[in-house]
Amino acid sequence: MDKFVMSDELAKARSYEEHMETFIDRDDRPCFHLSSRVGWMNDPNGFAFYKGEYHLFYQYSPYTITWAPMHWGHAVSKDLLSWKNLPCALAPDMPYDNLGGCFSGSAIELPDGRLMLMYTGAGQNGKKEDGSPREFQTQCLAIGDGKDFQKYEGNPVIDGDSLPEGSSKEQFRDPKIWREDDGTYRAVVASLGPDNSGRIVVYRSDDGFSWEFDHVLSRNAGRYGVMWECPDLFSLDGKDVLLVSPQDMLSQGHEFHSGNGTICIVGHLDQQTGELVEERVSCIDHGTDYYATQTLLAPDGRRIMVAWMQNWDAIAGSLPQTRWFGQMATPRELSVRDGRLYQWPIRELDDLRRNLVEHTGVQVSKTPIELEGVRGRVMDMLIDIRPADEDNPYKEFTIFFAQDYRFHSSLRYRTEGGTLVMSRIHAGSRRAYVHHRKCDVPEAPTKISFRMVFDKYSVEVFVNDGIQAITMTIPTNVSADVVTFSCKGNAVINVKKFDLADPRD
Ligand code: FRU
Repeated sequence: MDKFVMSDELAKARSYEEHMETFIDRDDRPCFHLSSRVGWMNDPNGFAFYKGEYHLFYQYSPYTITWAPMHWGHAVSKDLLSWKNLPCALAPDMPYDNLGGCFSGSAIELPDGRLMLMYTGAGQNGKKEDGSPREFQTQCLAIGDGKDFQKYEGNPVIDGDSLPEGSSKEQFRDPKIWREDDGTYRAVVASLGPDNSGRIVVYRSDDGFSWEFDHVLSRNAGRYGVMWECPDLFSLDGKDVLLVSPQDMLSQGHEFHSGNGTICIVGHLDQQTGELVEERVSCIDHGTDYYATQTLLAPDGRRIMVAWMQNWDAIAGSLPQTRWFGQMATPRELSVRDGRLYQWPIRELDDLRRNLVEHTGVQVSKTPIELEGVRGRVMDMLIDIRPADEDNPYKEFTIFFAQDYRFHSSLRYRTEGGTLVMSRIHAGSRRAYVHHRKCDVPEAPTKISFRMVFDKYSVEVFVNDGIQAITMTIPTNVSADVVTFSCKGNAVINVKKFDLADPRD
């Protein structure tokens, strides 16, 4: 790397986080989900495997527990579960990023061994009619050794003038970069098109530094929300897959909810136009707290996805801690089967399993039952449910968790329609943010299985072999750890429960 010159803003953020993190009790944090070192965290950024370690950066405001001009926080891990903080990587210290800060982006290793970050600079361009600052968004680079990153003197490398006529220069962000087999680079970037609806555009570069507009990959055209954020494009199991996080969605059945959502478009790239031909559009995660996905291709060929385990529509429910806010969801292995996206927690999580408790063939009916040894808030629980009588299946099965004498959360499955309802209505929140979500299980089976991964203030549910995922943060104190099962009708269940070891020990 050329000589690294640290700005005052970055030096201040680094010394602040180093000092302030000492006031945060390790036990207040989740065990294996990466949480903000101090202050606020949103989107995952720069997810990469570099020099033998996974690097995960994130949208970060060290000084506040609400969103404020963005820095990039930084952590590394060998197993994606045990994280070590590294110093803040980027601070808003340039004219092109000193209004909103250093917005989301991605990372790639250059052929010379340096790590390059590509991010959105949210800078100021004059004022609006009402006197408030006018933001403009451009794509910028910072190059480094995996710890210190120098912003490129040629920044910004992509600005809104390169976009098709009529596109917004204020809503143009979140570049995800990759290298093609021929050594040239591409990046997908989110843009607000002339139709005032999201689009994903592709840029091209020979060397990673000098970029030109290539083509429009995908057009929202008013279907799924307005602006699309955080695009990611990759091929997987013979399909081309685009992930985006739309803002301002309207609800559609139980598939899409209003507000900020996540969608997955499975399709194929048209060889002539480069456009993504859609085959199936679905929600990535049906829970209350999942947004801004980003993936990487691991050295062993797995496509692994991370996301912010929070959602803009649910942040009013800040968790009990006060010096940090925000955590990442468990990294998930992705696959595409029969044209659908499947998700499963990374296999590294299995290594944390301890103390198996198993119950088989348990009859469940109306009165809630507790099973010996099945409780906890840091655990991995697998449950198979089947009707006691195939000809007369149960109507509704409920798992209550994070429960004490006063509070509980629940996952309820209704066989009619195959509807799942995840709820934290009675979890102890004093705020009226989103407290429950529904989704449908294809074909409404009466035999169903769930894997539920708990880490203190969250639960992630994977249905059957990962055909649906539902993620929810839980505001209830961790001492509420009772699990009970109840059924309208009669069901038989098998339960396996493991404690999950704290990988930081
Ligand atoms: C998504 C997002 C991105 C943006 C970042 C700013 O959550 O709005 O589009 O880059 O957050 O923090």
